[in-house]
Amino acid sequence: MKKKNVIFLCIFLMFPLISFAQPEMSAITRAKFIPLITLNNGVKMPILGFGTYSLNGSTAENSVAEAISLGYRLIDTATTYGNEESVGTGIQKSGIDREELFITTKLWVSDMGYESAKKAFELSLKKLGVDYIDLYLIHRPRGDIKGSWKAMEELYEEGKIKAIGVSNFEPAQLEELLSYAKIKPAVNQIEIHPFFQQFETQETLQEMNIQPEAWSPLAGGRNEIFSNPVIAAIGKKYNKSNAQIALRWIIQRGIITIPRTSNQAYMLENLNIFDFELDDADMKQMATLDLNTTQFPEWE
Ligand SMILES: NC(=O)c1ccc[n+]([C@@H]2O[C@H](COP(=O)([O-])OP(=O)(O)OC[C@H]3O[C@@H](n4cnc5c(N)ncnc54)[C@H](OP(=O)(O)O)[C@@H]3O)[C@@H](O)[C@H]2O)c1
Repeated sequence: MKKKNVIFLCIFLMFPLISFAQPEMSAITRAKFIPLITLNNGVKMPILGFGTYSLNGSTAENSVAEAISLGYRLIDTATTYGNEESVGTGIQKSGIDREELFITTKLWVSDMGYESAKKAFELSLKKLGVDYIDLYLIHRPRGDIKGSWKAMEELYEEGKIKAIGVSNFEPAQLEELLSYAKIKPAVNQIEIHPFFQQFETQETLQEMNIQPEAWSPLAGGRNEIFSNPVIAAIGKKYNKSNAQIALRWIIQRGIITIPRTSNQAYMLENLNIFDFELDDADMKQMATLDLNTTQFPEWE
């Protein structure tokens, strides 16, 4: 990213200097201080949200309701997580107005194709208990991408989806999609965390005007991220945890992200990343952690 843009982003992210840890701060106030990113179709998406992979049943319901009550507004789920119903119940429990939320769900591999995608989408709506989705993503670049994309474009034009995008697409796969797409993907949700930093991919996505979104921003807890000494040394400077440094490092790059936890203290901690700024030296230290490969080979 150009230096001028980085400076602008930092000012944006630091405004105002405020501690989210203050227990008296209301969820509405916290939500207001999560910056919004404008996607390529003008839709605004929070830069920080809540992931729900592996949260099921009452844990998913309670975690989603709790996260919303603390100030999260972006909720990320997927058909294949098998939790859309519980996530939907959590949303209803929270009592929040639908328009306040930004809900992402994803089309799974087995539902690829024009007809199947339409059916799968309707089922997701039903399970989530909503009548539109803010961001609908092709979960993985498999099967009939062209037919699926056409179905998603139609659903978008009907107003049932506010933004359409992809996940886990390589730049070459995006190029192919762009060769026939009427509507450009707004987002590519990909693996990004301190051990797989993806700067080059980020640059390519920015050139394509497609917003990067980081999945597993905390590397799913792998590689002892929470006790990593390089991250801990940076955290000591700002009195922040390793999780907060990793998340700040991602949003400071202009990348949207969606950490997941069922622990209320962690939910709050992960929101409390807007009152400090990593400097160039910190960014250089973070760069030393890059292993430049996926940390989830089992999902390849
Ligand atoms: N598109 C895709 O293909 C794809 C793939 C993977 C993930 N995703 C999305 O990205 C989201 C996030 O990824 P993820 O769920 O794999 O993992 P993650 O958010 O990188 O890490 C989750 C782990 O970090 C722990 N944690 C969270 N906050 C913490 C904190 N402040 N201090 C210490 N530990 C903390 C959680 O602990 P507890 O368990 O104790 O709460 C959990 O074990 C998913 O939930 C999903 O929505 C998408």
